[in-house]
Amino acid sequence: MKYFLLPLGCATNKADAERIAGVLSSVGYTTANSEEEADLIGVIACSIRQSAIDRVYGKVHQWNQWKKNRTVTTFVSGCMLAADQKKFLKLFDLVVPLDKVPEMPHMLKEYGTSPVEHFWDITPKRQHQYKALVPIQNGCDKFCTYCAVPYTRGREVSRSSKDILKEVESLIQSGVRQITLLGQNVNSYGLDKKGEELSFAQLLDAVGTMADKAPHRVWIHYTSPHPRDMTREVLEVQAKHPSLAHYLNLPLQSGNNDVLKKMNRRYTVEHYMTILDLAREIIPDMTVSTDIIVGFCDETEEQFTDTCRAVERAHYDIAFIAQYSVRPGVVAEKRFADTVAKDEKKRRHTVLTDILKIGALNNNQQLVGKTIPALVETASRKDGKLLARTEGLKSIEFASTDESLIGHFVLVRVESCDAWRLSGTYLSAADENPIRA
Ligand code: 5AD
Ligand code: SF4
Repeated sequence: MKYFLLPLGCATNKADAERIAGVLSSVGYTTANSEEEADLIGVIACSIRQSAIDRVYGKVHQWNQWKKNRTVTTFVSGCMLAADQKKFLKLFDLVVPLDKVPEMPHMLKEYGTSPVEHFWDITPKRQHQYKALVPIQNGCDKFCTYCAVPYTRGREVSRSSKDILKEVESLIQSGVRQITLLGQNVNSYGLDKKGEELSFAQLLDAVGTMADKAPHRVWIHYTSPHPRDMTREVLEVQAKHPSLAHYLNLPLQSGNNDVLKKMNRRYTVEHYMTILDLAREIIPDMTVSTDIIVGFCDETEEQFTDTCRAVERAHYDIAFIAQYSVRPGVVAEKRFADTVAKDEKKRRHTVLTDILKIGALNNNQQLVGKTIPALVETASRKDGKLLARTEGLKSIEFASTDESLIGHFVLVRVESCDAWRLSGTYLSAADENPIRA
């Protein structure tokens, strides 16, 4: 029996898919190379925007057509709103909320009960050998008014730090080069178990201590923190351990205080900029990315212009810009009208991308001439290049056909750049841990 998984949306869904794959392989399923050759197809749904949910409906209709000619079992898991879950029950063979994943073998009726009870205890079947996603928390208590996550994933629950550290240790032992600590709100880690659990800064410190001692170079990333909970302590811990990557995703969402208030973000632009400046003061070579929503409810032209000014001021390296998409059942859907036209959202997206590009290009130009480490990810065979990522997760390409470098660190001299990509020349392999050398 072969399975195929289709994770949509963010890194958390990719990490969840690896645990679902872990359960399926533990009961004898093997991976199919495509949907076409699979006996069991699962989609890990994302509810952040309507377009992602539309894809789920599109896919399941297609799979249900296939059922006329062959047997195939379908299931849906991941981030689902109650309203969609109801509809999914009629379209999929199985609807599997994440906390029910350990019971999947039982649901598939062929096997007995699962060997573990809790989702996080499942051993993931990892997509990559050299990089890994490690969930540290699930759910969110912030209730930003536009966001589906508190409804699809529920309240914030921190995973035990002992389990996290055990997983990180075994990943490092098995040679993993890059680990991302994942959560919807990583810097409120432990607050749900106050007094019993480490704080996020303490957890990061423990992970950093472990990774600094690794037999090879390791980069640790974390995503995403909430600006409101960001502390000097976290940034100082990040600066202290060489293995903690100089990368920060700090979601701004809007550059206007009235919009931020309507979004229930609970910080001001001024506070956000204080945190950003502090991050760059403590770690001057920090690569900074952000998330922004354009066209939220009745966002005016002036309010949008404030976001443009904020993006200019912040000179981000990358921004994940989203056009506001109403989610059924969230506070914004009930309280505010979605008045900005689709075309206008698109226009604001383009305008903001152009502003972002100027800052990103300028940042990249500062790297030209420098020699930096990068982790090789893929080969582009047709033009004889390898594609890698820097510590700040910037793409960098260089001429080489040596595919054995994939999954390893290299040193590259940056020769040129555009706003989204660096180009360089390969200098040497760079897997050894610089801290131990
Ligand atoms: N519409 C558009 N973008 C959204 N995001 C979250 N909810 C919505 C929505 N309803 C964006 C936010 C968040 C990112 C993961 O997705 O910018 O940071
Ligand atoms: Fe959604 Fe806000 Fe929670 Fe992020 S912090 S997951 S945007 S509710």
